[in-house]
Amino acid sequence: MLLEVRNLDVGYQGKQVVFGASLRVDAGEFVALIGHNGAGKTTLLKTICGYLKTGSGDVRYRGEDIRNLSPAVNVKKGLVFVHQEKSLFPNLSVLENLQLAAYAIGKAYNLEQRLKEVYRIFPILKDREKQMANTLSGGQQKQLAVGMAILVEPQLLLLDEPSLGLSPNLVKDLGNVLKEISNMGTAILLVEQNVKMAISLAQRIYVMRTGQIILEDTHENMMKRESLWDLF
Ligand SMILES: Nc1ncnc2c1ncn2[C@@H]1O[C@H](COP(=O)(O)OP(=O)(O)OP(=O)(O)O)[C@@H](O)[C@H]1O
Ligand SMILES: [Mg+2]
Repeated sequence: MLLEVRNLDVGYQGKQVVFGASLRVDAGEFVALIGHNGAGKTTLLKTICGYLKTGSGDVRYRGEDIRNLSPAVNVKKGLVFVHQEKSLFPNLSVLENLQLAAYAIGKAYNLEQRLKEVYRIFPILKDREKQMANTLSGGQQKQLAVGMAILVEPQLLLLDEPSLGLSPNLVKDLGNVLKEISNMGTAILLVEQNVKMAISLAQRIYVMRTGQIILEDTHENMMKRESLWDLF
């Protein structure tokens, strides 16, 4: 098991918003977490990565208790989080953002080769290499955020609503990119409002409602469901 979360309680200023959440992600597995606005999905992801320290429960990554580790340390261990918003350095260029991502991992590897790989997946980033991140379109910014994450070859990629604000065409492209990343062996935990996309991509799906994980099921079973409305 790559990631194991057990009985996680999390709150803000004493108000609990995640209640006893448990989930797991195996090596190379593609898992989705879906649920309505305010269900606690982002809170759960932030707690896994080390941004939030409140509450109780276990978070184990490759068997190690990471509850007290910072996000920066987790990145070096291959656990990379792409935020719902604000995952870029707005006043730096596309290339500088990618270079900083490489710097964050603090691992010696061939940056030129990794850049080539990111540019192969997102050609637009090569074209816009010198452009400031905050002048990219919304869709391009999303591509840069995901590009920064895959540049460092994570073992586990946590994505918080990467499809938000993208046109249907871009959502499709993003889905293909995520499938490709997954096929290359990276485990993915994808948080999505786009339920259709999430279910079509993931091997296993968790559903969250008002702070609790209320369902876990396989891709096959979720595809067979007539309606998901009863879950929300
Ligand atoms: N910094 C904060 N301080 C206080 N309450 C917060 C904070 N961040 C989130 N919350 C509250 O915690 C609950 C869960 O929020 P969270 O962002 O985890 O939901 P979400 O499932 O990611 O929703 P969305 O789909 O809208 O992104 C919400 O009621 C939200 O208002
Ligand atoms: Mg959220």
